[in-house]
Amino acid sequence: MHTNAHELAREAADELRSRSGADSFDVALVMGSGWAPAADALGTVGGEFAVSELPGFRKPQVEGHVGRVRTVRGEAGKGDLLVFLGRTHLYEGHGTDAVVHNVRTAIAAGAGTVILTNAAGALRSEFEVGQPVLITDHLNLTARSPLTGANFVDLTDTYSASLRALARDAAPSLAEGVYAAMPGPHFETPAEIRMLRAMGADLVGMSTALEAIAAREQEASVLGISLVTNVAAGLADRPLDHEEVLEAGREAATDVGRLLAAIVERL
Ligand code: 6GU
Repeated sequence: MHTNAHELAREAADELRSRSGADSFDVALVMGSGWAPAADALGTVGGEFAVSELPGFRKPQVEGHVGRVRTVRGEAGKGDLLVFLGRTHLYEGHGTDAVVHNVRTAIAAGAGTVILTNAAGALRSEFEVGQPVLITDHLNLTARSPLTGANFVDLTDTYSASLRALARDAAPSLAEGVYAAMPGPHFETPAEIRMLRAMGADLVGMSTALEAIAAREQEASVLGISLVTNVAAGLADRPLDHEEVLEAGREAATDVGRLLAAIVERL
């Protein structure tokens, strides 16, 4: 019997350690839609298997969301990397614990740094499809929290200032923005996009914020990066489509892989 979600994460971490042969991980990466091919730039693969083989993980339901976990050999003196290829989204209907189980498992397996990537729609005209954008902060508009009880976690420095500085050191021209997390699975209406812009959002997507909150609950440091895969509703001259989001990810994979590798090198 699992008394709670944290215990289930510890079980998943134990299983992960025994399957991968690694004792501990320093850094976890969550590769969002279109980011999975970029994982190949991170280094030598230790092992890889379906996340659904670990306690508490769900099989992915959406095309382009792979649902695998990979260990990557760390460089000398560094622990192995834990790389999730795909994630569970709130819109899949399994609740917030399922959404943040990746982050909780990674932290239970030793990760003190969590790098969250995603595909996002651009709300700023200067953002181009295929461009990575560093997340400076988020608007959690899912109306949900992964936390329960009197758990008043401070979210002032959710996206670590020192990790952001390190990312800009790796890529000085990296743009920055505020990420609005929507519940999905539908894209927004043009009126909702105007609302999000007025609220201070620069990017919009359906992930990341709940995982970042769960990571901060356990005091892990978070770095967030969006890949702009499309322009948000009403800002482009055509409708949005999931295939377009995936295609933009495939095209940008080499560049964003290099970016991630340069960031991980500096950790
Ligand atoms: Cl425009 N909206 C949302 N909610 N998620 C997205 C997106 C837009 N583009 C990529 N993911």
